[in-house]
Amino acid sequence: MNDTDLGKIKTPLRVDDPALAAKIAEGLLARGFTGDGMRAAVPETALADTSMKMDHAAIAERMGMETPLACLLRAFLLRVATPEDVMRRVMGAEFFALCEAARLWVRVEGGVVGEVVFLEDGLFLLSDNTAVRRKEIEMYWVMSIGTSTMAVANSIASRPFARVLDLCCGSGIQSFYVARRAEQVVAIDRNPRALNYGRFGAGMNGHANIEFRESDCYSAVEGEQFDLIVCNPPYVMTPDRQAYYRDGGMGGDRFSERILREAAGYLRDGGFGHFTCDVGAMGGRASDDRLREWLTGNGCDVVVLGGMKVKAADYAKSWLKADSGAQVQAELDRWVAYFAELGVEEIQNWLVILRRRTEGGPNWYLQDSLPPTRKGHFGHQIARMFACQDVLRLDDANLWKARLRLAPDMRLQQIVRPEGGRWMADSAKLTFGEGFIQEYDVEPRTASLLILYDGTRTSEEVLARLSAELGEEVEDIRAGWMGYLRHLLGSGILEPVEA
Ligand SMILES: C[S@@+](CC[C@H](N)C(=O)[O-])C[C@H]1O[C@@H](n2cnc3c(N)ncnc32)[C@H](O)[C@@H]1O
Repeated sequence: MNDTDLGKIKTPLRVDDPALAAKIAEGLLARGFTGDGMRAAVPETALADTSMKMDHAAIAERMGMETPLACLLRAFLLRVATPEDVMRRVMGAEFFALCEAARLWVRVEGGVVGEVVFLEDGLFLLSDNTAVRRKEIEMYWVMSIGTSTMAVANSIASRPFARVLDLCCGSGIQSFYVARRAEQVVAIDRNPRALNYGRFGAGMNGHANIEFRESDCYSAVEGEQFDLIVCNPPYVMTPDRQAYYRDGGMGGDRFSERILREAAGYLRDGGFGHFTCDVGAMGGRASDDRLREWLTGNGCDVVVLGGMKVKAADYAKSWLKADSGAQVQAELDRWVAYFAELGVEEIQNWLVILRRRTEGGPNWYLQDSLPPTRKGHFGHQIARMFACQDVLRLDDANLWKARLRLAPDMRLQQIVRPEGGRWMADSAKLTFGEGFIQEYDVEPRTASLLILYDGTRTSEEVLARLSAELGEEVEDIRAGWMGYLRHLLGSGILEPVEA
């Protein structure tokens, strides 16, 4: 490959003029190129996953090329060629020229196709299309939204942040999600093609507060500190260095180890870091023990949530199914031999959240499971875990003074039965129906008493009310209730008022 070809692979789009990207975004929206528009026209596609098997030609045939939206979908989603004269006529010569100036069209046999895919979640995101050109650009291939993308994005509290670092930013999706509530975002990545897409996407989305920098790990932000680090790294444990998006290139899980070990130094006091990673059970040491060792003594409070755990051979299979076509068996043998050599038995996925805290007592470490059922954002629940763990560090005397409240997103479900002309509670459940979907059985009477925790009373005052309601002496119920209170805080059913 000559330098010009490599240059085009590294920086395919014109990014020196954000106004151009903004005009293109405007033009696309005006032509119906929105999430809803796409879904209505191409119901086969889950727009967040362009790798799914679609019969692109058949869909393109069915859509025709009479409308601007059909032409745009052919170009950017289906990547089916449309004759250039048709494209110009249907899109309008001026808009065609804008896309041409940005280098969004490529000429192929039969016409033009879009250079990149656009996805939308109220935002534009540019990424490579799995269906095409994968081999040619393998190392630089820019991924679309994946499960790990959303796991990290959904874990972040929806509050404002001052300085944000998007480490391993790819084409900027994490930055785009957070940019509207951040003063400044620094987005860094090793892959220049991803940064090129990121800069263009930021222009399309009108995010003037994101600065993209080329960086090997933290190299481009040496000496800087942030209020939030968000990071979906190349966490896959592979024997290879084939693609930046997947292979950290340091072997085993060393890339994840490195970014986690170094993270605290880039956090301001009180700053949060959100990471996902895969960690091997290796050489007789469990995945969680190894992870804990990486994070010990870093001046941070830590929440680690364990996700899927798989045997090394199944892990290899799950990645190779997607990645290696006909060579699967040979590749599988190679990966399995690699894991055997490293002594990797099992691999577990983790969501890791750090909060730098240098004052107010020793740092704490909480390990739990990542609830398998999730719906939308759970950042408020992660923030609550930190607030509740802080309160749980109080001794009993101070916890009695704390003002607590029922989590505002908690719901009570009761089953009642008719008895003696009245509805009598049979059973009750406290449930979280958004974010982490969780439910807790609770005695109906206890459930109705919990409403006393409305944030206005101290726990001691609630205890006095409970004693009156239950007809029991305060001192007879104190110890038992303190145990229950700690359980309620540990489950996030109660939270401190300022959470
Ligand atoms: C799994 S992708 C994540 C993309 C995006 N942030 C997301 O959440 O979907 C990992 C990213 O890490 C980048 N990367 C790989 N090695 C890197 C390194 N040594 N330093 C910085 N970034 C790197 C890749 O180019 C890729 O964009």
